[in-house]
Amino acid sequence: MRTQVAIIGSGPAGLMLGRLLSRAGIDNVIVERQSADHVLSRIRAGVLEQGSVELIEQAGIGERMRQEGIVHHGTVLAFDGDSHRFDFTDLVGRSVMVYGQTEVTRDLMRARNTDGAPSVYDAAHVAIHDIDGARPRVTYIRDGQTHEIACDFVAGCDGFHGAARASIPADAIRTFERAYPFGWLGILVDRPPVADELIYAHHARGFALCSMRSPTRSRYYVQCAIDEKVEAWSDERFWDELRRRLPPAAADALQTGPSIEKSIAPLRSFVAEPMRFGRLFLAGDAAHIVPPTGAKGLNLALGDVRYLAGALIAHYRDGSDAGLDGYSAKALARVWKAERFSWWMTTLLHTFPDMGPFERRMQRAEFDNLVSSRAAAMAMAESYAGPPY
Ligand code: APR
Ligand code: PHB
Repeated sequence: MRTQVAIIGSGPAGLMLGRLLSRAGIDNVIVERQSADHVLSRIRAGVLEQGSVELIEQAGIGERMRQEGIVHHGTVLAFDGDSHRFDFTDLVGRSVMVYGQTEVTRDLMRARNTDGAPSVYDAAHVAIHDIDGARPRVTYIRDGQTHEIACDFVAGCDGFHGAARASIPADAIRTFERAYPFGWLGILVDRPPVADELIYAHHARGFALCSMRSPTRSRYYVQCAIDEKVEAWSDERFWDELRRRLPPAAADALQTGPSIEKSIAPLRSFVAEPMRFGRLFLAGDAAHIVPPTGAKGLNLALGDVRYLAGALIAHYRDGSDAGLDGYSAKALARVWKAERFSWWMTTLLHTFPDMGPFERRMQRAEFDNLVSSRAAAMAMAESYAGPPY
């Protein structure tokens, strides 16, 4: 098989890149290790920056998001029971949209079917060859047979554990990493959300987050030890712990029920530089990871492919490689902003095992500063709602 751009990975980064390229008349093939159903069964975050909402609209897949998504004009931060609402619209004239990553992925997959663009699912042993030459190739095994795709470029959109970044020689890439000494235990429940907007709560027992997927489905998290086992958490234990960490009014209003999903995710900050090697371009989790505090992961993935699609379109349409040459630096500038914000919000809101009284007072001073200084609140709101493109 031959194509112009081979895309590894059918997450939001790969699918959005494919959609933008297809609409510009650029041939692309997606090669994914898992089945489509498996990809759609993963539960991920669900807050879209305004720039992500605009990209989804531009890609012509905004209809369901417009109907089912929930616009949030602000969020609540709570600290040891004291809570404060930050009004993004008042502070920076922007808002966010609550619409699950799974739904964005579903909308993109449907659009890809309509476009008639090829996707290969259940592809094993995906390997990338000759990326430092003019004729890269992607090979994979499916149904016991080896297949090959010859292409002009490879887009590595295959997540943190994918094949793309791993195929770059170690001396051509530099990585930066922090693993946090705790995880998030998350629960999905068919009960209305406790509040109209998200509540991010700091508590001495650990961080808690109240989020949502729809007016009838909620997503809640509590910080837990890194080695915690999900089996040790009955629904009852989860609800008890969540209630203890929330401001009293929220704890009283909480509607509990049987969980329909429960899992533990580790927290990590990670960046690989540069995001290009020869004809291979990395995008999304393949190049960087943020802790979920602040919900930047999906937004960063969409930001990368927005830049990458623009650069590839300029290559094919105008014969200009300036965009491809500048891709890594342009994407990384946005990535590091989101890394800073996610790290800062994680540090502000979590209880770290090695914290002393000074560090705890610093967290409180940071919270008080956000509440009392409009300039500090504006900076927070700008990062949360997403800096303009
Ligand atoms: N070959 C082919 N496909 C692969 C391989 C491989 N070797 N390894 C991983 N994949 C696939 C995964 O199965 C997955 O479907 O690549 C896809 C990567 O998708 P995501 O993990 O969703 O990553 P991305 O598209 O960059 O989206 C980033 O996902 O993890 C969240 O918080 C993150 O919201 C952010 C978003
Ligand atoms: C979620 O709804 O899963 C969610 C929301 C906000 C975050 C992280 C996760 O910061």
